[in-house]
Amino acid sequence: SATWLILLLLAYLLGSVSFAVVLSRWGKLPDPRQFGSGNPGASNMLRLGGRPLAIGTLLGDAGKGALAVALGTWLGLSSLQQGWLALAVIVGHMLPLFHQFRGGKGVATAAGALLVLAWPLGLLCALLWAVIFAWQRMASLASMFTCLALLPLTLWLYPVLLPPISLLVALILLRHRLNLGRLLTGNEPRFRR
Ligand code: G3P
Repeated sequence: SATWLILLLLAYLLGSVSFAVVLSRWGKLPDPRQFGSGNPGASNMLRLGGRPLAIGTLLGDAGKGALAVALGTWLGLSSLQQGWLALAVIVGHMLPLFHQFRGGKGVATAAGALLVLAWPLGLLCALLWAVIFAWQRMASLASMFTCLALLPLTLWLYPVLLPPISLLVALILLRHRLNLGRLLTGNEPRFRR
């Protein structure tokens, strides 16, 4: 229906607000897309030298993901429909209308969306991500591994969500192809402890 399309569009537009771009401008830092990994996300904001702005980016990007799904919950949509809203907000983050379609990798946004969509799944993913990051100090490795784990976890705990979640996993993994190349050649930088 038209309402459904408007909701999807709204989630996409919400995702299109890149907190890395907005906060780096506000903090008078260089554009994260011209620096480090070139990714407008929390990890690269940390490289840019701003822990508070990195945390702000994480909370903002996760927050918009959570908000998009919460909108669906609030309107009483089915959990599958809420899953499609999660996908739409992540696509917005990756291809943002407000930032020349040059967006991020969707990890924080997916985390926020997942925490509202299916909180046990979101919590498991957040924990897994944190453990891998603490161990290897590479956000990309933690993100890719968590993405892969998300598929069997979804199949087990929320099989109904498998279509939107498989798509978002595929998109996030695709966005990490350069990270994967660097990981395989031993060139992915680590965060210092
Ligand atoms: O959240 C994105 C993360 O998985 C990788 O980002 O900047 O380290 O390539 P980055």
